[in-house]
Amino acid sequence: MSYTNKVIHSGYFNETLREWQCQNTQITPINLMYPIFILDEKDVREDIKSMPGIYRQGLNHVKAMLDPVVESGLKSILIFGVINKLPKDQCGTHADSPENPVIQALPLLKKWYPNLVIACDVCLCPYSSDGHCGIVENQQIDNIRSINRIGEIALSYALAGADIVAPSCMMDGHVTAIKQSLMKENLLSRVSVLSYSAKFCSVFYGPFRDAANCAPSFSNRSSYQIPVGSSSIAERVVERDISESCDMTMVKPGMMYLDIVRKVKDKHPNIPIFIYQVSGEYAMLYYAVQAGVIQLKEGLLEILRSMRRAGGDVIVTYYTPEILKWLKDVPIL
Ligand code: PBG
Repeated sequence: MSYTNKVIHSGYFNETLREWQCQNTQITPINLMYPIFILDEKDVREDIKSMPGIYRQGLNHVKAMLDPVVESGLKSILIFGVINKLPKDQCGTHADSPENPVIQALPLLKKWYPNLVIACDVCLCPYSSDGHCGIVENQQIDNIRSINRIGEIALSYALAGADIVAPSCMMDGHVTAIKQSLMKENLLSRVSVLSYSAKFCSVFYGPFRDAANCAPSFSNRSSYQIPVGSSSIAERVVERDISESCDMTMVKPGMMYLDIVRKVKDKHPNIPIFIYQVSGEYAMLYYAVQAGVIQLKEGLLEILRSMRRAGGDVIVTYYTPEILKWLKDVPIL
Protein backbone atom coordinates (compact mmCIF):
# COMPACT_ATOMS: atom_id res chain seq x y z
CA MET A 1 0.00 0.00 0.00
CA SER A 2 1.35 3.43 -0.85
CA TYR A 3 1.57 6.39 1.46
CA THR A 4 -1.34 8.84 1.38
CA ASN A 5 -1.48 12.24 3.02
CA LYS A 6 -5.25 12.09 3.06
CA VAL A 7 -5.73 10.10 6.23
CA ILE A 8 -8.33 11.90 8.29
CA HIS A 9 -8.66 10.77 11.87
CA SER A 10 -12.36 10.25 12.43
CA GLY A 11 -11.97 9.39 16.08
CA TYR A 12 -9.51 9.58 18.94
CA PHE A 13 -9.06 7.61 22.09
CA ASN A 14 -8.07 10.72 24.00
CA GLU A 15 -10.73 13.10 25.34
CA THR A 16 -8.61 16.23 24.86
CA LEU A 17 -7.78 15.33 21.28
CA ARG A 18 -11.50 14.78 20.63
CA GLU A 19 -12.51 18.11 22.18
CA TRP A 20 -10.00 20.01 20.04
CA GLN A 21 -11.98 18.85 17.04
CA CYS A 22 -15.27 20.04 18.56
CA GLN A 23 -14.66 23.75 19.08
CA ASN A 24 -17.65 25.79 20.24
CA THR A 25 -19.94 22.85 20.72
CA GLN A 26 -19.36 22.46 24.45
CA ILE A 27 -22.15 22.95 26.97
CA THR A 28 -21.62 25.24 29.96
CA PRO A 29 -24.19 26.99 32.23
CA ILE A 30 -24.01 30.07 29.95
CA ASN A 31 -25.50 27.97 27.13
CA LEU A 32 -28.66 27.05 29.05
CA MET A 33 -31.93 28.85 29.79
CA TYR A 34 -34.55 27.25 32.04
CA PRO A 35 -38.28 27.75 31.28
CA ILE A 36 -40.60 27.88 34.31
CA PHE A 37 -44.37 28.22 34.74
CA ILE A 38 -45.79 30.52 37.43
CA LEU A 39 -49.43 30.13 38.46
CA ASP A 40 -51.88 32.75 39.69
CA GLU A 41 -52.69 30.60 42.76
CA LYS A 42 -49.85 31.29 45.20
CA ASP A 43 -49.99 28.10 47.25
CA VAL A 44 -50.75 25.64 44.46
CA ARG A 45 -48.25 23.30 42.81
CA GLU A 46 -49.55 21.12 39.98
CA ASP A 47 -47.75 18.54 37.93
CA ILE A 48 -48.12 18.68 34.17
CA LYS A 49 -49.30 15.30 33.02
CA SER A 50 -47.81 15.45 29.54
CA MET A 51 -44.44 16.69 30.90
CA PRO A 52 -43.56 14.41 33.82
CA GLY A 53 -41.10 16.09 36.20
CA ILE A 54 -42.19 19.63 35.26
CA TYR A 55 -44.56 21.64 37.46
CA ARG A 56 -46.51 24.82 37.39
CA GLN A 57 -46.35 26.54 40.71
CA GLY A 58 -47.68 29.55 42.54
CA LEU A 59 -45.32 32.21 43.83
CA ASN A 60 -45.00 30.60 47.26
CA HIS A 61 -43.33 27.53 45.72
CA VAL A 62 -41.00 29.26 43.28
CA LYS A 63 -38.08 29.94 45.61
CA ALA A 64 -37.91 26.38 46.93
CA MET A 65 -37.97 25.10 43.35
CA LEU A 66 -35.30 27.50 42.04
CA ASP A 67 -32.88 27.63 45.00
CA PRO A 68 -31.13 24.32 44.25
CA VAL A 69 -30.97 25.07 40.52
CA VAL A 70 -29.43 28.51 41.08
CA GLU A 71 -27.08 26.84 43.55
CA SER A 72 -25.93 24.48 40.77
CA GLY A 73 -25.04 27.39 38.52
CA LEU A 74 -28.22 28.47 36.72
CA LYS A 75 -27.61 31.66 34.69
CA SER A 76 -30.97 32.46 33.09
CA ILE A 77 -34.67 31.61 33.20
CA LEU A 78 -37.64 32.14 30.90
CA ILE A 79 -40.92 32.78 32.74
CA PHE A 80 -44.42 31.86 31.57
CA GLY A 81 -47.49 33.01 33.47
CA VAL A 82 -50.40 30.60 33.76
CA ILE A 83 -53.83 31.62 34.99
CA ASN A 84 -56.31 29.21 36.55
CA LYS A 85 -58.46 31.66 38.49
CA LEU A 86 -58.09 35.04 36.81
CA PRO A 87 -60.56 35.57 33.95
CA LYS A 88 -59.54 35.59 30.27
CA ASP A 89 -60.84 38.11 27.74
CA GLN A 90 -60.30 39.29 24.17
CA CYS A 91 -57.29 41.55 24.92
CA GLY A 92 -55.70 39.41 27.60
CA THR A 93 -56.26 42.02 30.34
CA HIS A 94 -54.51 39.85 32.91
CA ALA A 95 -51.33 39.46 30.88
CA ASP A 96 -50.05 42.58 32.64
CA SER A 97 -52.52 43.41 35.39
CA PRO A 98 -51.20 43.82 38.96
CA GLU A 99 -52.59 40.32 39.69
CA ASN A 100 -50.56 38.73 36.88
CA PRO A 101 -48.24 36.07 38.34
CA VAL A 102 -45.23 37.21 36.26
CA ILE A 103 -45.63 40.85 37.30
CA GLN A 104 -45.83 39.71 40.93
CA ALA A 105 -42.87 37.34 40.66
CA LEU A 106 -40.39 39.68 38.97
CA PRO A 107 -39.44 41.97 41.90
CA LEU A 108 -39.08 38.96 44.20
CA LEU A 109 -36.96 37.00 41.74
CA LYS A 110 -34.71 40.04 41.32
CA LYS A 111 -34.35 40.31 45.09
CA TRP A 112 -33.68 36.60 45.63
CA TYR A 113 -31.30 36.15 42.68
CA PRO A 114 -29.69 39.47 41.72
CA ASN A 115 -27.37 37.82 39.19
CA LEU A 116 -29.91 35.62 37.45
CA VAL A 117 -30.95 36.83 33.99
CA ILE A 118 -34.73 36.86 33.76
CA ALA A 119 -36.53 36.61 30.43
CA CYS A 120 -40.33 36.83 30.16
CA ASP A 121 -42.35 35.21 27.41
CA VAL A 122 -44.62 37.86 25.89
CA CYS A 123 -47.78 36.50 24.30
CA LEU A 124 -51.54 36.74 24.57
CA CYS A 125 -52.44 33.05 24.33
CA PRO A 126 -52.30 32.22 28.05
CA TYR A 127 -54.57 35.20 28.80
CA SER A 128 -56.94 35.61 25.85
CA SER A 129 -60.40 34.02 25.87
CA ASP A 130 -59.85 32.44 22.43
CA GLY A 131 -56.33 31.18 23.22
CA HIS A 132 -54.76 32.86 20.18
CA CYS A 133 -51.43 34.68 20.30
CA GLY A 134 -52.82 38.01 19.06
CA ILE A 135 -56.11 39.90 19.31
CA VAL A 136 -58.85 38.22 17.30
CA GLU A 137 -61.65 40.18 15.64
CA ASN A 138 -64.26 38.31 13.55
CA GLN A 139 -62.19 35.11 13.67
CA GLN A 140 -59.14 36.94 12.30
CA ILE A 141 -56.00 38.30 13.89
CA ASP A 142 -55.91 42.10 14.03
CA ASN A 143 -52.19 42.64 13.56
CA ILE A 144 -51.90 46.30 14.56
CA ARG A 145 -53.96 45.98 17.71
CA SER A 146 -52.04 42.81 18.56
CA ILE A 147 -48.58 44.36 18.35
CA ASN A 148 -49.69 47.46 20.25
CA ARG A 149 -50.92 45.21 23.04
CA ILE A 150 -47.75 43.07 22.89
CA GLY A 151 -45.70 46.30 23.23
CA GLU A 152 -47.72 47.26 26.32
CA ILE A 153 -47.31 43.87 27.97
CA ALA A 154 -43.56 43.80 27.27
CA LEU A 155 -43.21 47.25 28.80
CA SER A 156 -45.03 46.15 31.98
CA TYR A 157 -42.67 43.19 32.38
CA ALA A 158 -39.68 45.45 31.74
CA LEU A 159 -40.88 47.95 34.36
CA ALA A 160 -41.42 45.11 36.84
CA GLY A 161 -37.77 44.05 36.42
CA ALA A 162 -37.39 41.72 33.42
CA ASP A 163 -33.95 41.75 31.79
CA ILE A 164 -35.25 40.26 28.55
CA VAL A 165 -38.68 40.36 26.94
CA ALA A 166 -39.32 37.52 24.51
CA PRO A 167 -42.27 37.89 22.15
CA SER A 168 -43.49 34.45 21.03
CA CYS A 169 -46.66 35.62 19.29
CA MET A 170 -45.31 35.70 15.69
CA MET A 171 -47.16 38.94 14.96
CA ASP A 172 -45.58 41.03 12.19
CA GLY A 173 -43.74 44.01 13.64
CA HIS A 174 -43.64 42.79 17.24
CA VAL A 175 -39.99 43.75 17.69
CA THR A 176 -40.57 47.34 16.55
CA ALA A 177 -43.67 47.67 18.72
CA ILE A 178 -41.74 46.48 21.78
CA LYS A 179 -38.67 48.62 21.09
CA GLN A 180 -40.87 51.68 20.68
CA SER A 181 -42.68 51.10 23.92
CA LEU A 182 -39.40 50.46 25.78
CA MET A 183 -38.04 53.68 24.31
CA LYS A 184 -40.88 55.70 25.85
CA GLU A 185 -39.71 54.70 29.32
CA ASN A 186 -36.04 54.96 28.46
CA LEU A 187 -35.57 51.22 28.99
CA LEU A 188 -33.84 50.32 25.74
CA SER A 189 -30.41 50.10 27.30
CA ARG A 190 -31.51 47.94 30.24
CA VAL A 191 -33.89 45.50 28.56
CA SER A 192 -33.11 43.21 25.61
CA VAL A 193 -35.54 41.75 23.10
CA LEU A 194 -35.24 38.04 22.32
CA SER A 195 -37.54 37.39 19.38
CA TYR A 196 -38.98 33.96 18.74
CA SER A 197 -38.39 34.67 15.05
CA ALA A 198 -38.39 31.28 13.37
CA LYS A 199 -41.30 29.70 15.19
CA PHE A 200 -42.73 26.82 13.23
CA CYS A 201 -46.32 25.59 13.37
CA SER A 202 -45.38 22.44 15.25
CA VAL A 203 -47.26 19.56 16.86
CA PHE A 204 -44.42 19.42 19.37
CA TYR A 205 -45.99 22.31 21.36
CA GLY A 206 -48.81 19.99 22.42
CA PRO A 207 -47.67 19.34 26.01
CA PHE A 208 -46.96 23.06 26.54
CA ARG A 209 -50.52 24.02 25.69
CA ASP A 210 -51.55 21.64 28.40
CA ALA A 211 -49.01 23.26 30.75
CA ALA A 212 -49.89 26.87 30.02
CA ASN A 213 -53.57 26.26 29.57
CA CYS A 214 -53.47 28.06 26.22
CA ALA A 215 -54.78 25.84 23.41
CA PRO A 216 -56.70 27.88 20.79
CA SER A 217 -60.47 27.52 21.16
CA PHE A 218 -61.04 27.55 17.39
CA SER A 219 -58.85 26.87 14.36
CA ASN A 220 -55.07 26.61 14.92
CA ARG A 221 -52.00 28.83 14.75
CA SER A 222 -51.21 28.19 11.08
CA SER A 223 -52.08 31.74 10.02
CA TYR A 224 -49.14 33.13 11.98
CA GLN A 225 -46.69 30.28 12.65
CA ILE A 226 -44.29 29.13 9.91
CA PRO A 227 -45.22 26.13 7.73
CA VAL A 228 -43.05 23.17 8.68
CA GLY A 229 -41.52 22.81 5.21
CA SER A 230 -40.63 26.46 4.66
CA SER A 231 -37.02 27.49 5.07
CA SER A 232 -37.65 30.63 3.06
CA ILE A 233 -40.25 32.15 5.40
CA ALA A 234 -38.10 31.33 8.42
CA GLU A 235 -35.10 33.07 6.88
CA ARG A 236 -37.17 36.12 5.93
CA VAL A 237 -38.72 36.45 9.38
CA VAL A 238 -35.31 36.24 11.05
CA GLU A 239 -34.00 38.86 8.60
CA ARG A 240 -36.95 41.14 9.36
CA ASP A 241 -36.57 40.80 13.15
CA ILE A 242 -32.84 41.48 12.95
CA SER A 243 -33.51 44.53 10.79
CA GLU A 244 -35.93 45.70 13.51
CA SER A 245 -32.98 45.42 15.94
CA CYS A 246 -33.92 42.43 18.04
CA ASP A 247 -30.98 41.69 20.33
CA MET A 248 -31.24 37.92 20.08
CA THR A 249 -33.17 35.59 17.86
CA MET A 250 -34.67 32.12 18.28
CA VAL A 251 -35.43 29.01 16.28
CA LYS A 252 -38.18 26.77 17.64
CA PRO A 253 -38.63 23.78 17.96
CA GLY A 254 -35.03 22.62 18.06
CA MET A 255 -34.07 19.21 16.80
CA MET A 256 -36.06 19.24 13.54
CA TYR A 257 -35.00 22.77 12.55
CA LEU A 258 -31.22 22.76 12.91
CA ASP A 259 -30.80 23.49 9.20
CA ILE A 260 -32.47 26.87 9.87
CA VAL A 261 -30.12 27.52 12.78
CA ARG A 262 -27.11 26.87 10.58
CA LYS A 263 -28.39 29.19 7.85
CA VAL A 264 -29.05 32.01 10.31
CA LYS A 265 -25.66 31.53 11.98
CA ASP A 266 -23.81 31.61 8.66
CA LYS A 267 -25.56 34.81 7.65
CA HIS A 268 -25.44 36.50 11.06
CA PRO A 269 -22.48 35.10 12.97
CA ASN A 270 -22.66 37.88 15.55
CA ILE A 271 -26.22 37.69 16.79
CA PRO A 272 -26.88 35.19 19.59
CA ILE A 273 -29.15 32.38 18.43
CA PHE A 274 -31.40 30.63 20.92
CA ILE A 275 -32.85 27.20 20.24
CA TYR A 276 -36.00 26.14 22.10
CA GLN A 277 -36.07 22.43 22.84
CA VAL A 278 -39.86 22.43 23.20
CA SER A 279 -42.26 20.49 25.39
CA GLY A 280 -42.82 17.71 22.83
CA GLU A 281 -39.08 17.20 22.44
CA TYR A 282 -38.83 16.97 26.23
CA ALA A 283 -41.68 14.44 26.37
CA MET A 284 -40.32 12.39 23.47
CA LEU A 285 -36.94 11.93 25.13
CA TYR A 286 -38.50 11.44 28.57
CA TYR A 287 -40.62 8.54 27.36
CA ALA A 288 -37.79 6.97 25.36
CA VAL A 289 -35.70 7.01 28.55
CA GLN A 290 -38.61 5.59 30.57
CA ALA A 291 -38.93 2.75 28.10
CA GLY A 292 -35.23 1.99 28.45
CA VAL A 293 -34.58 2.75 24.77
CA ILE A 294 -32.17 5.68 25.32
CA GLN A 295 -29.95 6.74 28.24
CA LEU A 296 -30.87 10.27 29.30
CA LYS A 297 -27.38 11.71 29.67
CA GLU A 298 -25.96 10.24 26.48
CA GLY A 299 -29.07 11.00 24.44
CA LEU A 300 -29.54 14.53 25.68
CA LEU A 301 -25.88 15.44 25.29
CA GLU A 302 -25.91 14.22 21.70
CA ILE A 303 -28.92 16.43 20.98
CA LEU A 304 -27.50 19.47 22.76
CA ARG A 305 -24.13 19.13 21.09
CA SER A 306 -25.82 18.88 17.70
CA MET A 307 -27.65 22.08 18.51
CA ARG A 308 -24.38 23.79 19.38
CA ARG A 309 -22.74 22.38 16.22
CA ALA A 310 -25.58 23.81 14.12
CA GLY A 311 -24.79 27.24 15.55
CA GLY A 312 -27.07 27.56 18.58
CA ASP A 313 -25.59 29.69 21.36
CA VAL A 314 -28.20 29.15 24.06
CA ILE A 315 -30.57 26.22 24.43
CA VAL A 316 -33.85 26.74 26.22
CA THR A 317 -34.51 23.38 27.84
CA TYR A 318 -36.69 21.86 30.55
CA TYR A 319 -33.75 19.55 31.28
CA THR A 320 -31.60 22.45 32.56
CA PRO A 321 -31.56 21.29 36.23
CA GLU A 322 -30.30 17.80 35.25
CA ILE A 323 -27.61 19.22 32.97
CA LEU A 324 -26.41 21.61 35.68
CA LYS A 325 -26.10 18.66 38.06
CA TRP A 326 -23.86 16.89 35.56
CA LEU A 327 -21.84 20.09 35.19
CA LYS A 328 -21.09 20.09 38.90
CA ASP A 329 -18.67 17.19 38.35
CA VAL A 330 -16.99 18.51 35.18
CA PRO A 331 -16.48 22.13 34.04
CA ILE A 332 -17.92 21.61 30.56
CA LEU A 333 -19.89 18.88 28.80
C1 PBG B 1 -46.97 30.66 23.28
C2 PBG B 1 -45.84 29.70 23.33
C3 PBG B 1 -45.84 28.35 22.96
C4 PBG B 1 -44.60 27.84 23.34
C5 PBG B 1 -43.87 28.89 23.89
N1 PBG B 1 -44.64 30.02 23.85
C6 PBG B 1 -46.92 27.51 22.43
C7 PBG B 1 -47.51 27.79 21.12
O1 PBG B 1 -47.10 28.65 20.35
O2 PBG B 1 -48.50 27.11 20.86
C8 PBG B 1 -44.17 26.41 23.23
C9 PBG B 1 -43.19 25.94 24.21
C10 PBG B 1 -43.08 24.46 24.33
O3 PBG B 1 -43.73 23.69 23.62
O4 PBG B 1 -42.29 24.03 25.19
N2 PBG B 1 -47.04 31.49 22.22
